[in-house]
Formats: sequence, structure tokens, C-alpha cells
Amino acid sequence: MANSSISKFYKKSKKERINAVASFCGLSKKDVEVLQNNGGISFDEADKMVENAIGTVSFPLGIATSFRINRKDYLVPMVIEEPSVIAAASKAAKIARKHGGFTMKTDESYSIGQIQVVDVNVKSAISKIMKSSKEILKLANSKSKTLSKMRKGAKQISCKVIKTDSGPMLIVELLIDVGDAMGANVTNTMCEGVAPLIEKLTGGRVILRILSNYSTKRLVRGTAVFDKNEVGGQKIVDNIILAYQFAANDPYRAVTHNKGIMNGIIAVANATGQDTRAIEAAAHAYAARTGRYSSLTEWKKDKKGNLVGKIELPMAVGTVGGIVNVHNMIKICTKILGVKSAKDLACVITATGLAQNFSAIRSLASEGIQKGHMRLHARNIAAAAGVKSDKIDEVTKRMIKEGNISIHRVKEILKEL
Ligand code: MEV
Repeated sequence: MANSSISKFYKKSKKERINAVASFCGLSKKDVEVLQNNGGISFDEADKMVENAIGTVSFPLGIATSFRINRKDYLVPMVIEEPSVIAAASKAAKIARKHGGFTMKTDESYSIGQIQVVDVNVKSAISKIMKSSKEILKLANSKSKTLSKMRKGAKQISCKVIKTDSGPMLIVELLIDVGDAMGANVTNTMCEGVAPLIEKLTGGRVILRILSNYSTKRLVRGTAVFDKNEVGGQKIVDNIILAYQFAANDPYRAVTHNKGIMNGIIAVANATGQDTRAIEAAAHAYAARTGRYSSLTEWKKDKKGNLVGKIELPMAVGTVGGIVNVHNMIKICTKILGVKSAKDLACVITATGLAQNFSAIRSLASEGIQKGHMRLHARNIAAAAGVKSDKIDEVTKRMIKEGNISIHRVKEILKEL
């Protein structure tokens, strides 16, 4: 079985990195060519995706190494502009490997569709809807032959009443198994499809018919153990737990803590063509589910003093539909990941969020994040100045020591070496 722990991946040239990735997951010659030429979509493709297109913007695509999730190794593609994030994810994944990596679990891929009914006697409307639930579900399912064939689709109907300034309002909710799709389109289609029947049954007036991005029936949960010695000793483990407790009890810290988690989650979501706004919106609502915004992760230690991390959040992602099957780089990133289903993808994305959070709070609770940032920054400057791999460590070290990180200084150091 392929091993995602590729030694000194960061020291390899672009070509060597692409070749290592290609042999890990069996990319075709054409995929390798696309990667070597930086891939991306043409203007014509962009013009078909959005309105008023005038061009495209590209971002760095990197690979986080060493991930082991549910006993399988992954190279994780990440699209992000922020330095340190990919290195931090890889480092966390490497430490987590010692105790088996990440153990993740997902709910089924249930999407929630909402139909807002007004000008209605809510009590009698609810009883009429529930009595006709089979008919409503049948109508909803007639809107997707694909899901029906797979025995997925609308499974359940429920009603709730909300109090508003205009009086009580009835909200009818469809629970839909959307399989490997993110499911926004099919959910909206089903909601619009059943709305006339709901109006007929209730005598009310339907206004909104739309999916809820608060995907609480699509949760992912996961855990990983980080060996106390690899973390840096018991004191750092204890400091990390104190750092977590700060986030758990102060929304000002929790937002930043969760931002670190989203660094990992959104980078993988970008690489795999997901609706990142939906993921973000759901994650932050979930972080505030108790009525108080808090941490999406939880950190404790086990009996041996090792650090144990847990994460839980909604994750509405898809491996079919959207731009997943259209964008050449996203298709390649999905191949690199080798995920077979939306549930697997949700596990990888969420594990990367937990890894990212570990690395962020580990740095913050020990040396601080600036040192690592500066190291990477100096390395990038040296690389941009064309320093070869055999000299890059020395040049980076000297710039950091002197506190002078610039292309000008790189050139001087090269002359001195
Ligand atoms: C920076 O992008 C993310 C962090 O601020 C997260 C955190 O503070 O936990 C380092």
C-alpha cells in the first residue's frame, strides 16, 4: 500500500514532487503534463461558469504529506495563499501517524430543504402535511431519477413552527439523501417541485423553497492521538490544553482558533472544487450551537499524557456535480486524494482541519508562530532568488540569524559561501 510519508518532499524540485505524487496515486501522463504546465481553466471555460468574466486568478496548489486517515494513506492537495499552512498540516499528520493517524466517521449525506409557508393555520396545516407525507416524498423523488435509481433521495418530511413579527410561520423540511453530491441543486429542485402541493394541502402561501446550508444531518467527527514526546513534552501538551480551554470559553479566541481549523478545511475544499462558503457558514453556525460561539475542536490528554484531539462539524461536500467533473486541476486533485465517495472526502477535509488546529496551537503554546513563519518566508526568498537545494538551508539559517531577509542579502551570502 502506498505510503504518504514522503521524506524531504519540500526539498524536491517541482518535477520530482509531481513524479512522487504521480507514482503515489497513479496519475496519467496527461495529468502529469497538466500539472507541469500549471493547469487551470481557459477563459472560455471561465466565461461559461460565471457572468461578465474578464479572466481567471490562480493560487498555489501544494501537497500535505504523511496523512493516514481511517487506516489509509493520503497525499492531501491544498490550495491556499498563506505560507506555513501546508507544512503545518504535514507536520501534524506525521506526528499523528505514530498512533495510527486520524479516525473519522461521517453521517449519511443528508441535505435539508426548507419550504416556508405563510398565511396558514399552522396546526391544521401540519396535520395535513404529515398525513400526505408519502405523496409529498413521492413527488419530491420524481424530480431526481438519478437519486431514485440509487434508492437515495427524499426520505423524510418534518414541520416546525417559528415565531416571527408577522405571527407564526410554518417551515416544512425535506430530509434528502444526496449521495455523493453536495446536493444544493437537487435539494432546491425538490423544494420547488413540492411547493405547489404543499400550498394545495395547507391552503397557505409558499415563499422560500431552498436548501439549508446548516447541514446538521451531515456531520463529520474525528479524533487523533499526538504522542507527548513528539509534541515536545508534557509541558507543551498541558499548554495546548490550556490554549484550547481559552478558545472553548472566549468567543474572541474561538474565532481565531476556528480560523486556523478553516485554514486546513478550506484549502482542501478549494483543491477539490467545493462550495467553501457553504462549509464556512455551517461550521461557524455549528460552533455557536449552544448559544455561545466556541471551539470546533476539543483537546484533552490520555492516561499516558498524550494529547488527544477531537473535531466535529457539518461537512456538505460532493465528489460529483459542480465543477468537480469540469475543472482539469480539480479532477487531478480528486485523483490525488483517491477518495471514492463524498463521505470519504468529508473525512479527509475534516482530518486536515484537526491537523491544522493541532499545529497552530502547538506553535502558539510553545515558540509562537512567527519563528516558523519567518523561516518559511526566508526559505521562499532564497528559492525565489534561485538558490539551489544544497545551499538553501545555510542561506535561510544565516538570514534568520541576522534578521535580514531579502534577495539582496541572499546574493551577498551566496558570494560569501
Ligand atoms: C493563522 O492563519 C491561524 C492562527 O491564528 C490560528 C490560531 O490562532 O489558532 C495561527
